[in-house]
Amino acid sequence: MKVTSGRISQEDREFYKTNGYWVSPVLFDEQEIEDMRKAHDRIWSFDYDGDGFPLDEWRPNSNPKMLRKIDNSWWINDTIKNTVTNPILGQIAAGLMDSTEARLWYDQVIYKPGTGKSDKDTQASGNVGWHQDYIYWRCTNHENLVTAWIALQDTDLTNGCMSVVPGSHTWGLLEGSDAFFNRDLESVKSRIAQESGKDWKEVPLLLKAGQVSFHHAYTIHGSGQNHSDHPRLSVVAHLMPHGTAYKNRGHNVDNIRLLGPRPKEGQLFDNDYFPIAYSAETEQ
Ligand SMILES: [Fe+2]
Repeated sequence: MKVTSGRISQEDREFYKTNGYWVSPVLFDEQEIEDMRKAHDRIWSFDYDGDGFPLDEWRPNSNPKMLRKIDNSWWINDTIKNTVTNPILGQIAAGLMDSTEARLWYDQVIYKPGTGKSDKDTQASGNVGWHQDYIYWRCTNHENLVTAWIALQDTDLTNGCMSVVPGSHTWGLLEGSDAFFNRDLESVKSRIAQESGKDWKEVPLLLKAGQVSFHHAYTIHGSGQNHSDHPRLSVVAHLMPHGTAYKNRGHNVDNIRLLGPRPKEGQLFDNDYFPIAYSAETEQ
């Protein structure tokens, strides 16, 4: 870690409040990035820490250009666990969420294969369709959650960086934003733009290796093809503020399951499956 504190300025908070995203300085150093890249290799090779299993096992696809994604790999990889519960990352998230605490909601490890320059496909297998994260998280009692996206290499439009629609976190939840797996970015864009009735503007998030972008759970985001010759690797931490509880809206059954056999409306997501990344109470 190059940075020793996750305190953010009032200006940073205002930027996030206005735009629904914020990009950090480089938080992770070369060794940490290398360790996370090794964690990727091990995860895709089913080489796990401990004798447990991830929430859903990743299955190799016959199409090598297909996006790879696995949820809650902190269960089976210690490097990922330390990364997604990193207290500095957590403190930044808590600051953006205006909370005294940041707990892990879940993590994602994402591998976007490189297709090379010549392969131009408007519906490439590595595309991530425009979506709002909260469309998948309606089992939480509010939308003030934040996603931290950690770049494990310099990331820009040439290798399929994420883009966000600034201010879209104020547009409310859009039914058409349920499109993570829809690779046709243009058609999803016109559908969401029409439903929102707002002007659509995209900002690509250009990150150096070790930088982290944070976005609100309502912020519309997506990413296109990786035209480089190398995979675009990332580790993603979804974090929630103090007091986040279960709401019976029938979404994200995976995480409901982690509350125990009989989850009840109002039950806090506060057990060992949702570890604390940062708490102001324990800060020294
Ligand atoms: Fe997302």
